[in-house]
Amino acid sequence: MRFFKTLAASLLGLTSVVSAATYSNPLKTTDGSDPHIAWSGGYYYLMTTTWSDLRITRATTLNGLKTGETKVVWKDTNTSRCCNIWAPELHYLDGAWYIYYTAGNSANLDGQRPHVLKGGATPWDSFSYLAQLTNTWAIDGSILRFSSWGNYFVYSCFSGSLQSLCIAPLTSPGKIGTAKVLSTPTASWEKVGNPVMEGPAAMYHDGKTFLSYSASYCWTSSYSLGLLTWNGSGDPSLSASWKKTGPFLTSKNGNYGPGHNGFFQSPNGKEIWNVFHATSNSNGACDGTRYTMAQIVNWNSDGSPNFGSPGKLGTTLAGPSGE
Ligand SMILES: *[C@@H]1O[C@H](CO)[C@@H](O)[C@H](O)[C@H]1NC(C)=O
Ligand SMILES: *[C@@H]1O[C@H](CO)[C@@H](O)[C@H](O)[C@H]1NC(C)=O
Repeated sequence: MRFFKTLAASLLGLTSVVSAATYSNPLKTTDGSDPHIAWSGGYYYLMTTTWSDLRITRATTLNGLKTGETKVVWKDTNTSRCCNIWAPELHYLDGAWYIYYTAGNSANLDGQRPHVLKGGATPWDSFSYLAQLTNTWAIDGSILRFSSWGNYFVYSCFSGSLQSLCIAPLTSPGKIGTAKVLSTPTASWEKVGNPVMEGPAAMYHDGKTFLSYSASYCWTSSYSLGLLTWNGSGDPSLSASWKKTGPFLTSKNGNYGPGHNGFFQSPNGKEIWNVFHATSNSNGACDGTRYTMAQIVNWNSDGSPNFGSPGKLGTTLAGPSGE
């Protein structure tokens, strides 16, 4: 009897382990840079930097993204925005999906500008060109939302010689208002190789608003995440309304320079997940050798996010809840 109970319990345990969705990293082995995932209507939609076009991979499970259905959604023959296509992100605004991305010319990186494509009611609908958002050098644009202040466009910009974070009201999906410098790289962990703040990503939890970003130069192993936490009442376009902490998600387990992340929700909406890139090169990397990883965000008792460390590749992990 005792034996059968134990057997039954272990069989049940086994069943639950087998039926829970699992995944392992990396989700994308090459050209996995600057990843962004949106969960919508039963699919995960992954975009990464390819340099030459914009493509979306979709799958119903996180692990399924490794072999997911992929389609190219944009290529451009206009020489001022054909090339060096970086950091695409899917955002839903006013009933339609938009792709915010960076593009420039083929000769150098001086022409990098933020652009946006307009899509349809699902991320799998077709996209058409909508607008360029700035006339100055700007990369890694993302959307930051407030119920009381409206939507903002946040991106990486130059403040003097410092690659910093800028913020501007998003007056419509293809237009921004006056931009301000939100934060400059002044901490030692933001200045390794070069002073850099880039790849901002907004996250909302328990009434708090956070803006993560990537700090230091990508060709170093010090590339990692920083965090700005909104104070809950001040004008979001003023740096005084935010508190900076970091570094987080630093190099570990053979994963170097983890960063340029995005956040997405689990299918049941209960968890926030972090998707980011890293490299096996101990000097860091800024190229297509970077791979895509995803991990759950945990929470500290003071309400701040715990990003943990990039885990060993190939480890089987529990997938997002509700898969
Ligand atoms: C090419 O792109 C630039 C930058 O976005 C834009 O100003 C220009 O109007 C475009 N040219 C054409 C022919 O669409
Ligand atoms: C939030 O920041 C603003 C400055 O932008 C400040 O005036 C306000 O007192 C701060 N509020 C809290 C609750 O710290």
